[in-house]
Amino acid sequence: MTCSTDQTYELCCVACGHTTPDFGAWFGAGQRCPACGANRADLAYSADYAGLAALLGGHPASFWHYRDFLPLGRSAAPVTRGEGTPPLERWAFLEDRARRDFGLDVTVVAARNDLNGGTGTFKDVAASMAASLLREWGVDRFVVASTGNIATAYATYLALAGVRLTAFVPRGQNQASVDEIRRLGQAVRVVDGTYADAKQAAADFAAAEGVLTSAGNIDPIRVESKRTMVFEFLRQLGRIPDVYVQAVSGGTGPIAVDKGIRELAGVGVLADARLPRMVLAQLDTCDPMVQGWERAVAGGFPDGWEKDYPVIADPQTAVTTLATGNPGMYPILAPIVRRSGGTYVRTPEAGLVTVARELLAATGLLLGPASVTCVAGFERALEQGCVKDGDVIVLNTGEGISRAPEFAARVDGTGEASHAVAHDRRWDHDRRRVLAPLPH
Ligand SMILES: Cc1ncc(COP(=O)(O)O)c(C=O)c1O
Ligand SMILES: [Zn+2]
Repeated sequence: MTCSTDQTYELCCVACGHTTPDFGAWFGAGQRCPACGANRADLAYSADYAGLAALLGGHPASFWHYRDFLPLGRSAAPVTRGEGTPPLERWAFLEDRARRDFGLDVTVVAARNDLNGGTGTFKDVAASMAASLLREWGVDRFVVASTGNIATAYATYLALAGVRLTAFVPRGQNQASVDEIRRLGQAVRVVDGTYADAKQAAADFAAAEGVLTSAGNIDPIRVESKRTMVFEFLRQLGRIPDVYVQAVSGGTGPIAVDKGIRELAGVGVLADARLPRMVLAQLDTCDPMVQGWERAVAGGFPDGWEKDYPVIADPQTAVTTLATGNPGMYPILAPIVRRSGGTYVRTPEAGLVTVARELLAATGLLLGPASVTCVAGFERALEQGCVKDGDVIVLNTGEGISRAPEFAARVDGTGEASHAVAHDRRWDHDRRRVLAPLPH
């Protein structure tokens, strides 16, 4: 492992407070706190946050715009491939629905992660950060388990960094991802079983081969890169939204939003550490977090409520990106949801095609099923009274349509025309359709 002396951050163990000076030491300790073995750490930066204000303008080319607030040594080069920053696009048709059906005057913006030039999902920033760090510290092999999007993103960015990846994916409707990973010259192993089985196979392989692996949704690499979303809220909206909606499998996005807001409040950039109310959506075909939440609500959040959730052994869903039946992150994520004043919502998988058609008719966009789950989750939030008059709502839609051809065909009957539209739009930031100006 090489050694870098120009770090501007440290990793602080959330369990015992021990600090690890940089990712070289973190990798060397097996991505754990050397003092207590915990695998969760918050990063603290020595950068001057007064400088962040100057960055919250203009039109950044990518999240590396915030490089002083990312854990890469000054002399290391980022591994970047057009991942950009997700434009926040106003979706007036959802505002119209809130007004017409619920008498609510709200602002709805979608984070258009599908527009980036990496692999077209919101996993690309994490992959860019990981590839940069692995190259900086001379790590030449890595392992991930994934339902598809993380594997494709890491395969792409790690290939650029010259890092060999072995991805473990569960057998399912993710052939497009598997093909893409192989085309990139990276290794992919299709595991007979569920996502949980793929995670186990990846962990076993990593241990046997002595190779580093992603620590999942709490992996500080993923969290730190994704928290730049909070900087983007400030840059593009001029504020933290009132409500944050996302489809969740493990929940890196909301964990990262929480980290970003705590960090900025801690250094005085935000007047208070108020979180957006988190509305986290799962499909009725794989809803263990929703079930756990419903139990907690029914029982009045008794002691230890966050450890009480079901495991769905073999989720019967075609939306593989959301197929986490054993939601190991729930004890971390659900308390964040509660602290935010938010909720989990369940939405039917059988209704996704209808929602996708409405989205297509209103915006001309065909997005992947996990993104459509987010839109449907917002609709459930409206019905369940979780949205208030005057709210500014961000929908963190995470993927385009390119790896979901079956879904595309069901939405528009052919799949061909919409594919062309989606592909065309995905690569061109300047031609994105902004339906109405953003609020400031
Ligand atoms: C588009 C999209 N939405 C949501 C998710 C769920 O993300 P997480 O695992 O961070 O909850 C994923 C994960 O791959 C995704 O690709
Ligand atoms: Zn520790």
